[in-house]
Amino acid sequence: MTPQEVVNLSTSAVAEIRAATTAEAVEALRIKYISRNGLLPALMKMMKDTSATDRPAMGRALNAFRERVTAALTEMKGATASAGAPSETFDFSLPGTWPAVGVMHPVSSVIEEAVRIFSQLGFTVADGPDIETAFNNFDALNTAPHHPSRDARDTFWFEDGRLLRTQTSPVQIRVMQSRKPPVRIINPGRCYRRDTTDATHAANFHQIEGLYVDTKPVSLADLKSTLAHFAREMMGPGVKIRFRPHFFPFTEPSVEVDFSCHLCKGRGCRVCKQSGWIEIAGAGMVDSRVYKKIGYDEECYGYAFGMGVERIAMIRHGVTDLRHLYTNDLRYLRQFA
Ligand code: DAH
Repeated sequence: MTPQEVVNLSTSAVAEIRAATTAEAVEALRIKYISRNGLLPALMKMMKDTSATDRPAMGRALNAFRERVTAALTEMKGATASAGAPSETFDFSLPGTWPAVGVMHPVSSVIEEAVRIFSQLGFTVADGPDIETAFNNFDALNTAPHHPSRDARDTFWFEDGRLLRTQTSPVQIRVMQSRKPPVRIINPGRCYRRDTTDATHAANFHQIEGLYVDTKPVSLADLKSTLAHFAREMMGPGVKIRFRPHFFPFTEPSVEVDFSCHLCKGRGCRVCKQSGWIEIAGAGMVDSRVYKKIGYDEECYGYAFGMGVERIAMIRHGVTDLRHLYTNDLRYLRQFA
């Protein structure tokens, strides 16, 4: 065999490979030409019988054979794979696959909305831990040593004397201990009480605490206008609020805050228990004893409030049973998208 004959062989091999139409045919030609038992190794073995003068040209012809055949095989392997059997073709008319998009939980959307509303009024978001000291949750909030809320039937206590906070109010203490007035914060967070679960109670629920303290006079009217603004932004322009006198150890005077029922527009329904009003928050003017306990010695004025997030979510969406919010039934929760 001469070098020229090897070149001719590679030309016919490339033509044969280019004519292949299936991946299987290309594979058969790979075996035929360049596998261990194929033509190329057989031609290489003939090198030793080639005359010394022909040998360099023979070497170049064999290298060219390998390169040209390998390139043709690679090219046709790609071409036959993409044109393959009908099952492998891509149908562009099929609908695409959509990513699964979640919806925000009603409790989270109330919190997000509240943060938006209060931040427009200059409030920033403060944070505090769920596990609190008795000082922050009770003592500093002027709660008497024998106040019933400290009872182990109402509060989850740890053996070391700490507790799961029963309210977000201890965040007021943390904030006042670390900053000088003016302070204007809200704190959305989880609270825990040993309540038996029913349509309006859960052992784990959420509150949004608010605190505004300044060295300039702040009045109950400021508190009322702030909460009225919040109510309208959250529930719509028609909602009314009312203050009822109440008692909290850490505010004086203290009030309970009701929103007019958004579902029946005040006419009376199941959700508002026919009263037309729903209790949303406790609030009041910060008791001067609290300032003393945390060591504010300037003259301070301030108001505080703590509202129930689940309550707001329930009247916003007409949820009649709190437990629906926590059974994690996606069919139920998706309605609030
Ligand atoms: N922490 C109270 C509760 O859980 C609610 C409350 C009342 C918060 C009056 C306040 C407040 O900040 O001033 O029942």
